Amino acid sequence: MSKREIIILGIETSCDDTGVALVKNGEKILSSVISSQIQIHSEFGGVVPELASRSHLENIYIVVSEALKISGLQLKDTDGVAVTYGPGLVGSILIGIEVAKAIAYVHKKPLLGINHLEGHIFSTLLEGEKPHFPFLALIVSGGHTELVLVKEYGKYAIIGKTRDDAVGEAFDKVAKLLDLGYPGGPKVEKLAKGSELGYKFPEAVMKDGSFDFSFSGLKTAVLNCKKNNAKIDSGALCAGFQDAVIAALLNKTLAVAAKYKIKRVVLGGGVIANKTIRGEFVKRGKEEGIEIFFPSIALCTDNGAMIAAAGYFKFLKKEYSNYSLNADPGLTL
Ligand code: KG4
Ligand code: ZN
Repeated sequence: MSKREIIILGIETSCDDTGVALVKNGEKILSSVISSQIQIHSEFGGVVPELASRSHLENIYIVVSEALKISGLQLKDTDGVAVTYGPGLVGSILIGIEVAKAIAYVHKKPLLGINHLEGHIFSTLLEGEKPHFPFLALIVSGGHTELVLVKEYGKYAIIGKTRDDAVGEAFDKVAKLLDLGYPGGPKVEKLAKGSELGYKFPEAVMKDGSFDFSFSGLKTAVLNCKKNNAKIDSGALCAGFQDAVIAALLNKTLAVAAKYKIKRVVLGGGVIANKTIRGEFVKRGKEEGIEIFFPSIALCTDNGAMIAAAGYFKFLKKEYSNYSLNADPGLTL
């Protein structure tokens, strides 16, 4: 007898991407549609919350319809509706939650409230070889920089986090400083590629020996470097900045892996779309006998499939949400 197929509809609206996907058995993407708001926000150099929620509202029906059309399924064919309820922008999250509630209610399906960070952790399960538990997850995005010990699904211990800027935020701020446009990460990566490492920025080391990160000092160092060098080469500056970020991420992650005797590291979040960062992790991982897992580039940034993947585990454990589910902008793991 074949295993029953579980199909989860995943909805992600926590920031500036409207993402909807249908995923089978937590690992096979039947469809994944993302409506990006980059064009709307780029003229302001960052995400404008009011514009983001309005745009989610305008787009969500179209994105859900498109995801269903591609999968060839109807809402009644799904087994559960997973939706991000935090962390993120409250007005944006609410749009996803209300749509998810309406679908779940009308079609009598379980509602599954998902932590956005859990989605990033489990995006790796959507493709290729899957990591066994326990593993260490490094989640680096526009809003987060977190090193998480994942003992099993739902059992997390945060070992380190940023004390100021998130990594993606630092990329975006450096890009703004150099007038590269928004979002900054891909632009900084492009300029850094092939540029000489002309500037060496120091890695922030926590005096208390913790595994926390700090990126605001690095950002200020880049700013000062630009101020003090009239004929600055933006490429070399980006390469120096990116190199310091990579050193901080790699050194902390591998130190935590060694301390907790973990041999598997999962990377996730928008910053992991950076090919230089991916490459450096693979290289050092090989040298130190640590397996490195990361999603394909399209699944690093926000999407509905990762929310459906995390929702599948919740569904199996029957951890359903009720209709009082609300946006929790500061939600932690
Ligand atoms: O995960 P994500 O889509 O949204 C949040 O949950 O924040 O991450 C977006 C962040 C932005 O700060 C963006 O600049 C950064 O990921 N990012 C990158 C790259 N692509 C996106 N950072 C570095 N290099 C990239 N190639
Ligand atoms: Zn994200």
